Amino acid sequence: MLAGLLLLAALACARPDTLPPMTTVTPAPDVHSFARPAEARVTHVSLDLQADFTTRRLGGRATLTFVRRPDASEIVLDTRGLEIQQVLSEDRQVLAFRLGPAVQHLGQALVITLPASGDRITVEYRTSPDAAALQWLTPAQTAGKDHPYLYSQGQAILTRTWIPTQDSPGIRQTYDATITVPRPLSVVMSAKSLTPDGTDVGNRQRAYRFKMDQSVPPYLIAIAAGDLAFRALGPRTGVYTEPAMLERAARELEDLEQMIAAAETLGGPYRWQRYDVLVLPPSFPYGGMENPRVTFVTPTILAGDKSLVSLLAHELAHSWSGNLVTNATWGDFWLNEGFTTYFENRIMEALYGKPRALMLATLGRDQLVRDMAAMAPADTRLSIDLEGRDPDEGTTSVPYEKGAALLQTLESAVGRERFDPWLRGYFNRHAFTSITSKQFVVDLQQELIRDDKALLDAIDLPAWLDQPGLPAAAVAVRSPALALADDQARRFSKGAAASSLAVAGWAPQQWQHLLEQLRTVPLSPSQLRDLDATFRLSASGNSEILFAWLRVGVARQFPPVVPPLERFLTGQGRRKFLRPLYQDLMQTAWGQPIARRIYAAARSSYHTVSSQTIDGIVK
Ligand code: BES
Ligand code: ZN
Repeated sequence: MLAGLLLLAALACARPDTLPPMTTVTPAPDVHSFARPAEARVTHVSLDLQADFTTRRLGGRATLTFVRRPDASEIVLDTRGLEIQQVLSEDRQVLAFRLGPAVQHLGQALVITLPASGDRITVEYRTSPDAAALQWLTPAQTAGKDHPYLYSQGQAILTRTWIPTQDSPGIRQTYDATITVPRPLSVVMSAKSLTPDGTDVGNRQRAYRFKMDQSVPPYLIAIAAGDLAFRALGPRTGVYTEPAMLERAARELEDLEQMIAAAETLGGPYRWQRYDVLVLPPSFPYGGMENPRVTFVTPTILAGDKSLVSLLAHELAHSWSGNLVTNATWGDFWLNEGFTTYFENRIMEALYGKPRALMLATLGRDQLVRDMAAMAPADTRLSIDLEGRDPDEGTTSVPYEKGAALLQTLESAVGRERFDPWLRGYFNRHAFTSITSKQFVVDLQQELIRDDKALLDAIDLPAWLDQPGLPAAAVAVRSPALALADDQARRFSKGAAASSLAVAGWAPQQWQHLLEQLRTVPLSPSQLRDLDATFRLSASGNSEILFAWLRVGVARQFPPVVPPLERFLTGQGRRKFLRPLYQDLMQTAWGQPIARRIYAAARSSYHTVSSQTIDGIVK
């Protein structure tokens, strides 16, 4: 009897992983989606796609399950560049459809006439060879050089370039997929693998099946296909990459299992069963992408000494902030990235100690202050208006670092003994839902601030969310280790020899900081030669240090940095590194021909995410 009651109580409290019925949720209005979810809303996507590496297309069908208002006569999907062949009802009747006018960034609405009843339709389609989400690599662009490679990047609104669905982060969907690729390629998706080795389907093709039965925003549907090897790291962790990189990747990711343990202490149980990491070819345009169950990362984090693993802490943290509790619209992006940046730092502190966490937090805060000085004030608010713009324009350090600063400030105001239970509660209360900044405010008021009037006044939420700049009440972050690097940067800029700098035992973040300080200082060619010869910066295996050094060299128009700069810009495609370097080069008559020459050679190797940005810089 008691056990039965307890079970009932547990069932009543447990949040379903799938969506509540139509009546209980209407997703927040999203200016980046054509969907009208109040009429008909997609709840499940079932893909059956074949990858053709010759024509660079995915083709096949997407069967969508939806909930509808009884009187709904149409369902509206998001598409961009898809070739729609036909749309069928469940009983294989051909359904009428039309594509709306093309809107910049957003693509086209696909409006399908619904039959009087039924909750499933099938869209037969193929993708365009230049689908923005997909990068098709030639064998020459891979590490192994023998096989082609395909991967997707869905965030923010690119999933619609390969899947016709309602592409809004407020419209959560479960999915399953059957993906057919030529042998011997294998396929990884952000879902549970049902056929780890694939099954032969004839004609030298293999099919791989996947199932994701936890509802996710569509930007988290992800795929990669290539010559992939796998190595287990722990009971629920592992790494996929091309065979040539496997050993190096596995060593760098050694601490992953421990990271999950630390994250669970803060966020509550890890809910996605597995956490694997896919190390992509160098063109991957981001540092990392938090695709559920399998984070995608750039190979530029393989420094050889685990010095860049905070990026993994970041993507792992998204398993709570972002994937479990998702920004309902791209104007609420800070709910994903600010929480994650805060959470990332707590994981780093738990694993590697306070000094390292403080260095990272300070580097982030410094970046924010530098960036905000050059930004339109309206874009330095946490709740930002992106109507008529590409959501990409909201990807600045503001959602990351101003968002994190809000949480640091709350933490410091109430102490961890009060803050941590609230944070864990926040993830549980909103698990598997997409929320707005307003819902965050309500949660904070009801669950943390309550009747603490002093706290409410001290925090001044409107200043954080709706006003520009960093509120004066923001808690300060200061790293003593970085202050030492400041001292040495000052000494060097005043003429001290590189060999006289007190750098023994420095952490990579101290180097990064020293170089960031030196970028705006007028150093002479002989000082730059001294710096590079003494510390071998041009040969650094740490991509952040190399990047910071190259920026120093470019700022001073120092010819010896051009060869390593060219290697760096052609050897990897991470936009965070490409954008500032091309921008710096384009600012001077010295740099412009260098930028144009390098970009002409490198452009075709970049993912669209990067080339579109750089197209706007190098002209
Ligand atoms: N989710 C982001 C990447 C992203 C953001 C893709 C917006 C598309 C649109 C990911 O979690 C991220 O923030 N990556 C950072 C690394 C992180 C350590 C700051 C990156 O790629 O640089
Ligand atoms: Zn992130």
